[in-house]
Amino acid sequence: MKTLLLTGWTWYIGSHCTLLLLQQGYNIIILDNLSNSSQDSIEKIQQISNKNVTFYQWDIRDRDILKKIFQENTIDTVLHFAGLKAVGASCTQPFEYYDNNIGWTMTLCEIMDEYWVKNIIFSSSATVYDPQQISPFTEETLTWNTTNPYGTTKFIIENIFRDLAHHKGFRVWNLRYFNPVWAHSSGLIWEDPDNIPNNLLPYIMKVAVWELSELSVFGKDYDTPDGTGVRVYIHVMDLAQGHIAALKWLEWNTPPPAIAGIPLDEGGQKASFLDGDDQSSEGAWVFESFNLGTGKGTSVFEMIRYTEAIAWMKIPYKIGERRSGDIATAYCSSSKAEKILGWKAEKTVQEAIADSWNFIQTKQWN
Ligand code: NAD
Ligand code: WQD
Repeated sequence: MKTLLLTGWTWYIGSHCTLLLLQQGYNIIILDNLSNSSQDSIEKIQQISNKNVTFYQWDIRDRDILKKIFQENTIDTVLHFAGLKAVGASCTQPFEYYDNNIGWTMTLCEIMDEYWVKNIIFSSSATVYDPQQISPFTEETLTWNTTNPYGTTKFIIENIFRDLAHHKGFRVWNLRYFNPVWAHSSGLIWEDPDNIPNNLLPYIMKVAVWELSELSVFGKDYDTPDGTGVRVYIHVMDLAQGHIAALKWLEWNTPPPAIAGIPLDEGGQKASFLDGDDQSSEGAWVFESFNLGTGKGTSVFEMIRYTEAIAWMKIPYKIGERRSGDIATAYCSSSKAEKILGWKAEKTVQEAIADSWNFIQTKQWN
């Protein structure tokens, strides 16, 4: 049975992935300091899956603790979710974001290298793309000019991983998530911010259940079909499936350890699986980015209309100012993930909204 270390597991995206991984028979070790989550979610996952996980409630920045995890377990692959992720907070506390997101990734990588664990799946973000570029973003679209410190941390970490792939034989599957939305259909795990949500769908849902009085639509004068911002919303379970596809690929294509860490100039093997990619075709190391999203964008007004149709109600809204840092349109091509990983998003945005609506109603009555 393969053993996976999941950092930052216990909350939103990591917990949804874990459900699928447990169903597939993986042995799961999790590391989370519970800074943005709670022990509760672990119990819920174990309840849904009827399986146990090994949980270390520690901070990933603690080098000794990390070493202990690698000493005590034979880890095949790391799924690195841990990170601070609030765009707004990153602008007021940039140093905390640089230290936490970049610093702890460095520590993790050093220890992985020491223990010869080279496979890693990283949670990157659509925010790495240069906002001046035109959608659909492909993996070749320029990444640059991030608009906030959070995005900058993802951009820098991606580049660190590229270096580690080239020089230390790391095999990195760099997954760029577009806008993930909401809950597992069991209704037991979800993204449910206690404070006023920053993101669109959680906000609409809180308006739909009268927890908030109205939505503010951030600008109606964008160069889009109805003037409001267009994004790709991807169901969190589709996103979780993307991790499974990436993991399977890494497993099936992982050379024996004696070869995996050796760059080409030291005798590493040529990897023949990705045609035409100069960066990854010359050694047993890999750095590959994948967009996890869909080619279909949805506007803010469409999100409101879809919710109204599903919830059978009017969503009160007002037109507000544009939000600083927002761009008109961001959607992507995921054809690379489809071609190489055999993954594509299956659920429509309406299904994601319907699952969210089911969840929030269930929560209201419990
Ligand atoms: P989340 O906040 O729900 O989960 C992150 C987890 O990391 C939390 O459980 C938190 O307790 C843990 N954590 C934070 N600091 C830690 C530390 N020092 N040591 C150990 N654990 C720590 O976030 P999420 O939405 O599940 O996002 C997971 C990853 O995906 C993040 O890296 C995020 O940047 C990335 N991502 C998220 C989105 C999104 O919209 N949710 C989009 C793109 C990328
Ligand atoms: C979507 C659209 C808003 C709220 C963010 C992060 C990104 C990633 C995902 C981590 C935009 C509009 C929103 C509201 C609105 N996270 N909107 N009223 O900004 O595309 O992406 O989450 O990596 O880094 O930036 O998502 O849901 O905030 O906004 O009109 O109250 O909804 O202007 O057009 P965004 P979002």
